[in-house]
Amino acid sequence: MDLNIKVNEKNHLDIGGADACDIAEEFGTPTYVIDENRIRDNYNRFYSAFSKYYPDFRVFYACKANTNLAVMKILESEGCSIDAVSPGEVYTARKVGFGSDRILFTGNNITNDELKFVHDEGVVLNIDSVSALKRLSEVVDPEGLKISLRVNPMVGAGHHDHCITGGVMSKFGIMDSEASEVYQMAKDLGFNPIGMHSHIGSGILDPEPFKLAIESTMDIAGKVHQDTGIDFEFVDFGGGIGIPYTPEEKIVDLDEFAKVNIELFKEKIDEYDMSSPAMFLEPGRYLVGDASTLLVTVNSVKQSYRKFIGVDAGFNTLLRPAMYDSYHHIVDASKMGDENTQKVDIAGNVCESGDLFARDRLMPDVEEGDILAILNAGAYGFTMSSNYNSRPLSSEVLVTDGECNLVREKQSFEDLFNNQIIPDHLK
Ligand SMILES: Cc1ncc(COP(=O)(O)O)c(C=O)c1O
Repeated sequence: MDLNIKVNEKNHLDIGGADACDIAEEFGTPTYVIDENRIRDNYNRFYSAFSKYYPDFRVFYACKANTNLAVMKILESEGCSIDAVSPGEVYTARKVGFGSDRILFTGNNITNDELKFVHDEGVVLNIDSVSALKRLSEVVDPEGLKISLRVNPMVGAGHHDHCITGGVMSKFGIMDSEASEVYQMAKDLGFNPIGMHSHIGSGILDPEPFKLAIESTMDIAGKVHQDTGIDFEFVDFGGGIGIPYTPEEKIVDLDEFAKVNIELFKEKIDEYDMSSPAMFLEPGRYLVGDASTLLVTVNSVKQSYRKFIGVDAGFNTLLRPAMYDSYHHIVDASKMGDENTQKVDIAGNVCESGDLFARDRLMPDVEEGDILAILNAGAYGFTMSSNYNSRPLSSEVLVTDGECNLVREKQSFEDLFNNQIIPDHLK
C-alpha cells in the first residue's frame, strides 16, 4: 500500500506526529489537516530527482491545487516558484513573499485589465491565444517584453475528461501547426518571446503521455527555433503527475521518470540545435495532494435500503468525489486497528443525492461520534470548496513535528453575508 498511513499506540490515525482524534477535538470538524514535513519532503524529492540530471531545472508549484498561505509559505521557503492561473493567485503569491521572478502566469480567457495587472506585477505571462497576444500588445508596451506562449502539444491525459488539457477538444493553447506563425507575430509586435509552455492534464500516473508530450512540445519548440530564430530560455512542460489515491495504485518512480524525460529533452535540444533552455515543471497535486487529510465526524448511522454513514461535511467541503467520481481512501481515525466488517456508503450533509464520499466502502464498525479521515485531500480540496447549502468553509490546521497550529479559521454564519447588499426597497 502506497498511501502512507500511520497509526499511533492508541490505535488512532497519526498525522505528522499528532493524533487525528485530538486534532478533531481541539479544532472541531470538518477540518483540513496539513502535514508540513510531507510538503517539504515532496518538494525536495521532486526537485532533486530532476535537477540531478539537469541542473537548469525549476519547479513552479501550481498553486490552484492549494492556496493556503501556510502551504505556499512552506514552498516559498524551500526555493520553489509559483504557477499562477489567475490574477488572484498572482496577488496571493506576492503576498506570501514570492518575488515576481518566481511567478509564471498561465491564464486563459483573461481580460485586458487582468493582462495589465499581471504585467504590472512584473510577472512573465504564458499567452494562451492570438487574441490575448494582440490585446497584451495594446494594453502594455510590448517592446522587448519577455513573454512565453502556451501551445497545444496534441497529447492529453488525466484522471477524468474534465482534466485533459491537450488535444483537439481542449480550449487551451495555440495550435501546434500555428506555433511558428504566432511566435513570429509576437516578435513582430515587439515582444521578446523567451519561453514555450504546454500542460497535458492532471492526475496522470502513466509515464507514457508525458514522454509523448515532451517529444511533441520539443518538436514544436525546435521548429519555432528553426523558423523564427528564437532561442528559448525555458521550456515549461506543465504539471499533471498523479499520486496514488487507492491502495492499489503505485507512486510514480520519479527517478526513472526524470531520467527518461530529461534524456528525451536533451536529445531534442541536440536534434534542433537549440542552446540549452531551462526545464520547468509545474506540479500541483504531487507536492500537496497527500499532505492533507480531511477530518469529519460521524453524526448519524442509518440503515435504510443501504447502510449510510452520515458525516458533518459534504461536497461543498470536498468536491472531487462528486465532481470527478474520484476515490479518496477513508479510514476510521478512532479505531485504526479494527477489522473492516461491513460495506457502507459514506454520505455528506449537503441536500443532494450525489453528495457521497464513498459507495460500498469496506469499513469497520463505524459509530456515531467516530472521526473519519478522508485521505489525500490536499490538492483541489479546500480550493474547490464552496458555501453551497449556506455551509461555512471549514478550518485548516497545520501540523509540524506533532505541533498543531490553526492556519484558517472556520467561517462564521456572518461570513456568509460578506459582500451581499440588500437594496433599500427590500429593507
Ligand atoms: C497550467 C497548469 N499547470 C499545472 C497544473 C497542475 O496540475 P497537477 O496538479 O495535476 O500537477 C495545472 C492543473 O491542471 C495547470 O492547469
